[in-house]
Amino acid sequence: MALERTFSIIKPDATRRNLTGKINAKFEDAGLRIVAQKRIHLTIAQAGEFYKVHAERPFYGELCEFMASAPIVCQVLEGEGAIAKNREVMGATNPADAAAGTVRADFAESVGENSVHGSDAPETAAEEIAYFFSGLELVG
Ligand code: PPS
Repeated sequence: MALERTFSIIKPDATRRNLTGKINAKFEDAGLRIVAQKRIHLTIAQAGEFYKVHAERPFYGELCEFMASAPIVCQVLEGEGAIAKNREVMGATNPADAAAGTVRADFAESVGENSVHGSDAPETAAEEIAYFFSGLELVG
């Protein structure tokens, strides 16, 4: 399997509870390397731009307000099959459906406040990485 990069966010519900280190340990234990990481506080407009693909969904406003409610940690994770591996480590979107030991099973509070975001495909990973990071910030 090819070496791949994916984009990850540790969301406000997790940074508020000081869970960044515990979540990063799960990524690293699964063989994912954190090749870029920064803590930022999005505006509602910036969150809206990032999640614009969901603009027509009923929860869009709530999702944008939540993502701007506290700092987030943006990351680029690298590894063999990193996109799929990260989604496995994250667990299902709704924590009630997430497999035991996944980030969302262990830490997520609800389907909205679900601790982490991860890219779902190579194209979105490339777009999301470019939205938050310059090439100079990716240190493999
Ligand atoms: S997925 O994984 O993209 O198929 O999940 P999806 O259900 O399409 O959800 C997309 C993102 O929207 C968030 N979400 C919600 N936020 C607030 N309230 C409700 N009810 C809600 N339902 C879904 C969900 O956490 C996904 O966020 P990301 O950051 O993409 O994982």
